[in-house]
Amino acid sequence: MQVLGIDIGGSATKGAIVDTETGLLVSERVRIAYKTIQEPAAIVKGINKIRKELNYEGPIGVGFPGVVKHGQIFTSANLHKDWIGKNLATMVTEKTGQPAVILNDADAAGLAEMRFGAPELRQYDFVMFLTIGTGIGTALFVNGKLIPNTELGHIEIRGKEAEHRASGAIKTREKLTWKEWALRLNTVLLTYEALINPEIFVLGGGISSSFDKYSKYFTTKAPVVAAKLKNLAGIIGAAIAAYETLKDKNEEADFQKQPLH
Ligand code: BGC
Repeated sequence: MQVLGIDIGGSATKGAIVDTETGLLVSERVRIAYKTIQEPAAIVKGINKIRKELNYEGPIGVGFPGVVKHGQIFTSANLHKDWIGKNLATMVTEKTGQPAVILNDADAAGLAEMRFGAPELRQYDFVMFLTIGTGIGTALFVNGKLIPNTELGHIEIRGKEAEHRASGAIKTREKLTWKEWALRLNTVLLTYEALINPEIFVLGGGISSSFDKYSKYFTTKAPVVAAKLKNLAGIIGAAIAAYETLKDKNEEADFQKQPLH
């Protein structure tokens, strides 16, 4: 099925229509950039603008950079604080007239990577996926199943949050070299390894396309690999999540309509 996937980020909202069978984009990618933090209503308006530009009607999957449960936003570390407590699924449906499924952005990107990224990933029992951009997002997969909303980018290491040490935004802001930044990220990865011991780390986000410039600085026992889907993973994963969640709900509804024998 073809489903609209949306990725809400710190500096832009991006969207495209995704073929959920192949994980490939079947439309252009539309990007609405912003220089200042936007209010929730403005972001939702942007989502509808992307939908209209792509001439799309149908389910919409949205990745949001915070804790999300049943469409409701619980945290918003890098976006507007007014998000907290809002039901983004309801807001999107009211604005667009389409059903919507919301999940954490790192969870969305990780889902896409597990499904359509390197096939070897599926041989690991415990995968830690990270998406590095404005913040550090994490997604854990145990036997291929996502543990949602893990938020390990906020773990404190020597008194400072991991994402305040080693996000992509910090690299830019502090003008760090690849080596300086990678050594910081290595400290973060070593902390994760000491605490939860994943079998492999997968690095996603914009920074994953420069993986060759810094991969030699990592010293974890578990291998560290670059994500394959680069910055499209969030859009692809959001679309897959919407398709699968709504499909399950419809099947359940159909099942409940069955006469009892
Ligand atoms: C947020 C996470 C998000 C990550 C990457 C963090 O600041 O708390 O929910 O996944 O940034 O966007």
